[in-house]
Amino acid sequence: MSSNDSVHGMWSSRFMFILAAAGSAVGLGNIWRFPYVAGENGGGAFVLVYLVCIFLIGIPILTSEIFLGRAGRKSPINTMQGLVEHSGANKAWNVIGWMGALAGFMILSFYAVIAGWAMSYMFSSASGVFVDIDGAGASSVFNDFVGDPAQVLTWHGIFMLITIYIVGRGVANGLEQAVKYLMPALFLLLLLLVGYSANTSHFSEGVSFLFSFNVEKLTWNGVLIAMGQAFFTLSLGMGAIMSYGAYMPKDSSIVGSATIIALIDTSVALLAGIAIFPLVFANGLEISSGPGLMFVTLPLAFGQMSGGVIFGTMFFLLVTFAAITSAISLIEPALAWLVEHLHVSRLRGAILVGGVAWFVGLGSAFSTNIWSDVMVLPGMDFFTSMDYVSNNIMLPLGGMLIALFSGWAVDKSVSQDQLQLSPGQFAIWEILVRFIAPLAVGTVFVMTFI
Ligand code: PHE
Repeated sequence: MSSNDSVHGMWSSRFMFILAAAGSAVGLGNIWRFPYVAGENGGGAFVLVYLVCIFLIGIPILTSEIFLGRAGRKSPINTMQGLVEHSGANKAWNVIGWMGALAGFMILSFYAVIAGWAMSYMFSSASGVFVDIDGAGASSVFNDFVGDPAQVLTWHGIFMLITIYIVGRGVANGLEQAVKYLMPALFLLLLLLVGYSANTSHFSEGVSFLFSFNVEKLTWNGVLIAMGQAFFTLSLGMGAIMSYGAYMPKDSSIVGSATIIALIDTSVALLAGIAIFPLVFANGLEISSGPGLMFVTLPLAFGQMSGGVIFGTMFFLLVTFAAITSAISLIEPALAWLVEHLHVSRLRGAILVGGVAWFVGLGSAFSTNIWSDVMVLPGMDFFTSMDYVSNNIMLPLGGMLIALFSGWAVDKSVSQDQLQLSPGQFAIWEILVRFIAPLAVGTVFVMTFI
């Protein structure tokens, strides 16, 4: 396969690749979704399964996605097609690219809705709404907001427009620079929140909820959700990282990069959890309150700390930014394919992909108000159903296929040339992607659905 540059542009260095991939990985999944799904699924045991999935399944598949992308240098759909042909593999493997682009649409559709919530919270915080607020007050601010379709729709639309604009401008213009400063700032603000939580009387209760690995509490459905969360948070299984790998310089270590990305991502999620759960206990809030968890707990902290108006505004601004750097990677697989296939400009392609995702997202925007009684899957509203199918089924399935393809079907000369591992290291990676990762995903599917 060619190792020339991609037509879509290239990251200027390995560092920039890691930054962009970490920007994709770190997002609402870490700060908003991780704490609330951990809360809904009993805490510690869930976190343990999540961590095992990150290290045993996540890093090896991350490695596969990056090297497949770099070997193909195209959109995931065309990268797969090229590698399938080159390796003389069965054409059915092409489903990886197509299913990934579809999953990207589905995730982006609800992702933009939640990112819209965060944007609106930036303004609420700036206008002092959270000053001295108590638990009941924070809950009612949240419920009033998500219960108002006009407000939710406005912010959902604004977020999508910003995303389209940035993606349309291209890979390297400005985005890399912004990620370089804003991600560390987000990290610092999270540390500040952890510091605040550490001074509440319920810090150890919150931390032990997250880290007391009490395995009896775990159901197979909980294991499935922990695995889905691991894929979601690493942006794995749908081609986002494959498309970023396509823009990665040739001579940089892939396994090393994958490990760094996973470590950054995991530490942000754990910090968010450590910041949030003590506040839940200290304020008598509901641990399994679902998608509203972050939006109800953090305003309490900002409302009480000095400088809270500024810190709160900055925090929601940074969360919004983290969401943008993830959203652009959700669009990239489909967009790159449109550019290659239909030769449309990036901006037009972004308008098309973003427009469709925005339209589908209306269902999620309405799930907390006018459509709150409309169930799509049994007991799940539109938003919950989209989230469940894309994160818990499509991403792990996509990841399993990527592992199998990279371990069994692709020409070994390609993987060896890309990974540059010693024979011993290569053998370990091969065992992980040939057997461990697919078997783990398969077992969880079988135990949950049969
Ligand atoms: N990883 C992102 C987050 O945690 C979400 C995402 C999923 C981005 C899949 C791209 C692909 O917020």
